[in-house]
Amino acid sequence: MIRDIIYGIAVCIHVLITLFPKLRPDLSDKRRLTPKSAPILRAADHHDDGKHHLLLAATGSVATIKIPLIIEALGKHRDLSIRLLLSHSAAKFLQSQSAEQPSLASIAALPNVDGIYFDEDEWRKPWVRGDSILHIELRRWADSMVIAPLSANSLAKISQGFSDSIITSVIRAWDHSGLIDGARPGVTLPYPPSLIVSELEKLPEQFRHGRKGIIVAPAMNTAMWTHPVTAKQIAVLDGEWGVSVGGWFEVLRPVEKTLACGDTGSGAMRDWREIVSVVEDRLRLAQANVNSLSSAINGTGIYGFIFNSSQGPLNTYNWCNMPHVNKETYSRANSSYKLQYVEVIHRHHKRTPYAANTFPREQYAWYCSDEGLFYGGKPINPAGNLSADTYWNVYTSPSNPLAPTGFNGTCQFPQITRGGLDDSHQHGVDLKAVYHDLLHFLPSSYDAKTVSYRVTNNVITSQVASMLTVGMWPTLSKKDTPLLIQPASIDSLEPAYTCSAGSALFSSYGVGSTKSAWLAHLTASAPLFSRLDALSGISPSSTDWHKSYDHYFDNLSARLCHDKALPCNINNTADCVSQAEANEVFRLGEYEYSFIYRDSPQSLQASTASYGIWIAELAQNLRHAAGLGPPALTGSDSVKYRHNVAHDGSISRLLSILQLEQMVWPGMGSEVVFELYTKEKCYFVRVLWGGQILKSSHPAFGLMEMVPLGTLLGYFDGLLANSIPYQAFNMTRTHKVTDRDHVGLANGTAAAEEHLPRYFGKAGRSGDDPAGTKKQGNGKGNWGKDGMSELEDYDYNPAKPRRRTNSMSSAAGHNLFKSKYEASDPEAIIEFDSELHGAMDEEHNELEKMSTSSSADTTGSVEEEEAVAGAKQ
Ligand SMILES: Cc1cc2nc3c(=O)[nH]c(=O)nc-3n(C[C@H](O)[C@H](O)[C@H](O)COP(=O)(O)O)c2cc1C
Repeated sequence: MIRDIIYGIAVCIHVLITLFPKLRPDLSDKRRLTPKSAPILRAADHHDDGKHHLLLAATGSVATIKIPLIIEALGKHRDLSIRLLLSHSAAKFLQSQSAEQPSLASIAALPNVDGIYFDEDEWRKPWVRGDSILHIELRRWADSMVIAPLSANSLAKISQGFSDSIITSVIRAWDHSGLIDGARPGVTLPYPPSLIVSELEKLPEQFRHGRKGIIVAPAMNTAMWTHPVTAKQIAVLDGEWGVSVGGWFEVLRPVEKTLACGDTGSGAMRDWREIVSVVEDRLRLAQANVNSLSSAINGTGIYGFIFNSSQGPLNTYNWCNMPHVNKETYSRANSSYKLQYVEVIHRHHKRTPYAANTFPREQYAWYCSDEGLFYGGKPINPAGNLSADTYWNVYTSPSNPLAPTGFNGTCQFPQITRGGLDDSHQHGVDLKAVYHDLLHFLPSSYDAKTVSYRVTNNVITSQVASMLTVGMWPTLSKKDTPLLIQPASIDSLEPAYTCSAGSALFSSYGVGSTKSAWLAHLTASAPLFSRLDALSGISPSSTDWHKSYDHYFDNLSARLCHDKALPCNINNTADCVSQAEANEVFRLGEYEYSFIYRDSPQSLQASTASYGIWIAELAQNLRHAAGLGPPALTGSDSVKYRHNVAHDGSISRLLSILQLEQMVWPGMGSEVVFELYTKEKCYFVRVLWGGQILKSSHPAFGLMEMVPLGTLLGYFDGLLANSIPYQAFNMTRTHKVTDRDHVGLANGTAAAEEHLPRYFGKAGRSGDDPAGTKKQGNGKGNWGKDGMSELEDYDYNPAKPRRRTNSMSSAAGHNLFKSKYEASDPEAIIEFDSELHGAMDEEHNELEKMSTSSSADTTGSVEEEEAVAGAKQ
C-alpha cells in the first residue's frame, strides 16, 4: 500500500516535470557546492599558503568530461590548490550520468580541489560596499588559469572582451601586464614580465618573478573549428595576446590531422594528459629535485646520477661520460622525413681538473704517461718536410724552486685523460654508427667537403677532436685533419668573445652576486664549506672558492671519474671527504647550474648575450641547409654535418636558450644535436639532448621533435635581435630572408623555400613598432626573458604597461607556427557532433535519474555536496 502511494507520487512528479521542465532540479546548481555558509574567497587569505594556485575552468564542450581526469592527475601534487570554474553548459556534463562523468560533489572531493564556482556565485549575497568581488578575488588568487575545454561560444566571447559570466569576467579582469598582482612568495609565474629587466628592477620584488598566464584548449566540432570566424578569434588570443608575441595567452590548438604545413583541424581537444603536463610545466609542479634548494641541502644521493668511471647505461646522466647519440637508443624519425643537415655540439670528454680547482697541497700525484699531448707544426700548403709526432712530456724538476701547487705528477691541469680520449673515440664511433650505418646520411669515408669539425682555443677540445674524428673515420689515423677554430678574441664556440654586458648580467644574479636568491644555498651549506676547507687547506676567506661550488665540484668529480680516492686531510689521512659529502657538493653544483641557466629570470637574457653569436652561426647554417643563403663559413656550402667540440659553458648556455625543461650541469661529453629534415617541402628540426628528444619548456617547442624550422629560427632571431653582440651582424640580409609571403604560405601558393614564417612576427614585444623592433633590437617578446637591450635604457615607463600595437600581419605570421601539442592521440579525440548530441540528451538523462533514484537520494547528495564545498572553502 505504502509502496503504491510512493509510486503514485513518483509518477505524479515525473509527469509534472515532463510538462513543466523548470520544476526539474538542476544538478549543476552551484548553490549546492558553494553553500551560503561557506566563507567568501579572499585571495589575501591564501597569499602565503605555500601552494601553487590553479584556476581550472571548463566551458560547454563535451570534452568537459576530461576535467575529472585532469584533476585526478594533478592530485599527486601536494603543493597545488585548484579552484574549478564551470560555465552553465559545462556543469551539465558532470552530473554523474556515467562513470566518466561523476557528480560535481565527487569532483569537489578530489584532492587539491578547494572550490567550485558558477556564475551565480558572483551574486550569492546582495553586494554592498566593502564586499569582495568574486571574479577579482579569483584572479588575484590564481597563479595561472587553464580553460579546458574552451567552447566556440566562450572563445568568441573572450576574443571580443565579453564578460557576462564568472569565467569571462575573470579573463577580462586578468592582470595581463603582470604589474597588478605580482608573484606570491616563493612562486615564479609562468610567463616573462611585460617589462625589460632594467625597468623591472625599479619595481617591487613581486613584479620581477614573471607574469600570470591563461592557457586555453579549444574543443569543438570540425565545422566550428574550420569556420573562418574561429581563425580570427584564435588570432586574437594567440597572435595578439599570445606568449609567443610577449603576451599572456597560450592556445593549445585542437588536434590536427594534417601536416604542420597544412591547415585543417578536427577541433578535438588536446589529450588531457598533455594539458596536465602543460600545467605541471608552467606552474613548475614537476619541478626536478635538481633545482630545489631543500633537496640540494637535505637530500641524499644525486638523483640517480652517476659520478664514476663506469660506462653506465646509455640513457642515464653520467657526469663522467654523458649519454650521446648511439645506435642502441637512437629513435629514428618517421621515414616520411628526410634528413638534410646535422649540427652536433658537445662538451669535451673527461679531463684532469683545472689547476685553479686543485687544493694547495694534494695528497697524491696524478700521472698521465698513458696519454700523449701531441702538439706540432708542419708545412702543409705547399707541403714541405715531414714532421715528427712530437708530444709533451710533463715533468717537474727538483732544480726548479717553484714547486707547483695542486697535484704533482705528469699531467697538465687540465688535459683530456686516457679515459677521456677513449670516450672521445667511442663518441665518434657511436655517431658514425647512427649517421652512416643506420641512416646512410654520412659517407663511408671522411670527406672534408661533407663534414667539418670545429674546436675552441682551449686545447682540450682539440685533444678530444683528434680521437673523435678517428672514431668516426678510422682512415684519418695519422692523417692531416683540419679543425676549424676562430680567433681567440672572438671565438663564439667556447664562448670567448667579450660581452661585458652579458658578464655583468650573469654576475648580477649568479656567481659573485650578493643577491639573496643566489646566496641562499651558499649560506645554507656553510657547514659543508667549513668542513671542506678544513680538509683541503683552502682559506675560508678565499672568495673564489666560496662564491660557488664550481671549484670543489670539479676537484671531487674529476677524482671519481678517474677512480681516484676522495681527498683526505693532509695532516690526518684518516679524515677524508665522504661520499655523502661529495654528493652534497654535486647536488649543490647541479642546483647552481639550474639556477644560473634556467631558474633565474635573467638566465635566458644572459645566455643569449654570451652565446648569441654561436646561435646566429647555427641559424645561418640551418638556413643554408634549407636553401636560404650562404652558410656561416664561406666556402663550406656542401657541408652537411658540422661538429663542434666545446665546454660546459657552451652547452649550458645553449640549453638555457633552448629552455631545457630540467636543467642540469652538462657533464663530460654532453651533447646536443640539431637534425634538419624535410617533409613535403617543409623543413623541420629535431633536437636531441643526450641522444633523446630534448624537452623544452618553451610553449612553442615542448618536445623538440620536428619543430618547424621557421618556428626555431623565429625564436632565435627574436632573441638575437636584442642581443648586443648580434647587433654587430649585418641585419639587412636577415630582414630580406625573413620577409616571407604570408598569404602565399597560408593558401599554399608560396614557393617551397618560402615556407618559413616571418621571424619577427612573433618576436616583437607588445607595444613595439615592428620596424623599431628590428632597428633597435628590442623586440624580444618571447617566452624567455627580454634580450640584452634591457641593459640599455630605452624609453620605457614601468608604470604604463606597453600598448599592444603589433600589426595583425605579424600575428598572421605567427599563426603559421604550429605548436608542440599537435601530435594526435586518438583517445583524446572527442568531437562535438550530431551523434554526441544524441547521446547527451539532457532530458533523457535527468528524467532517467529522477525515475531511478528517490527524491531522498537527491536531497542527500545536495547536502553532501554543500558539506564538501563548505569544508574546502
Ligand atoms: C551535448 C552538447 C555538446 C556540445 N559540445 C560542444 C563542443 O564540443 N564545443 C562547443 O564549442 N560547443 C559545444 N556545445 C554547444 C555549447 O555547449 C553551447 O554553445 C553553449 O552555449 C556554450 O556555452 P559556454 O561557452 O558558456 O559554456 C555542445 C552542446 C551540447 C548540447
